[in-house]
Amino acid sequence: MTVRILGISGSLRSSSSNTALLRACAAIAPANVQFTVYDGLDKLPYFSPELDTEGSTPIDAVLSFRNQVRDADAVIFSTPEYAFGVPGVLKNALDWLVSSGEFVYKPTGVISASPLATGGDKAHASLVQTLNVMTASIPEEYKLIIPLVRTKMDPLGNVTDPELKSSLLTLVNRLASTKTSI
Ligand SMILES: Cc1cc2nc3c(=O)[nH]c(=O)nc-3n(C[C@H](O)[C@H](O)[C@H](O)COP(=O)(O)O)c2cc1C
Repeated sequence: MTVRILGISGSLRSSSSNTALLRACAAIAPANVQFTVYDGLDKLPYFSPELDTEGSTPIDAVLSFRNQVRDADAVIFSTPEYAFGVPGVLKNALDWLVSSGEFVYKPTGVISASPLATGGDKAHASLVQTLNVMTASIPEEYKLIIPLVRTKMDPLGNVTDPELKSSLLTLVNRLASTKTSI
């Protein structure tokens, strides 16, 4: 059975460590997992409830984002921390999903990664809090905080730290197994 996992990075940087972590997840995922990394975060307009009411013109980028989240069996976020918070682009994307409900009971992994020793723990907590409000399913074992991330990857974004590789694989396997247990 094919399991669809959608990765969403909170960073728009071309050499983002968080996006690289999601690509690493895609590379190590078992053969039955179709892992897609979402690439439209910067195409979403600024959220306003007025753009999202019945009768308003549908926005293609928003519809596509909602469809991709809805069609995924599970979602994995990987986000940096900016000024102790979730990057604005990621929070903006989530705001588009609050009322449309794609995250209701969605098995969701939450990773934060930072070059600092804190691993972006405050952004991690904030992202979990927002997703919990949206009733995503995030048990403790779906959460991963990665400190000192640059010491665990090579300059090309390949994960070199065996412990991190193993944690990512465990997370992907856990999320992949939710499809059969739902
Ligand atoms: C404006 C700005 C604010 C930042 N604030 C934090 C922070 O509060 N905590 C932290 O751990 N790192 C912070 N950083 C460093 C990021 O963790 C670092 O740039 C990281 O590599 C970004 O993730 P990425 O590689 O996925 O783009 C900040 C970086 C920028 C540019």
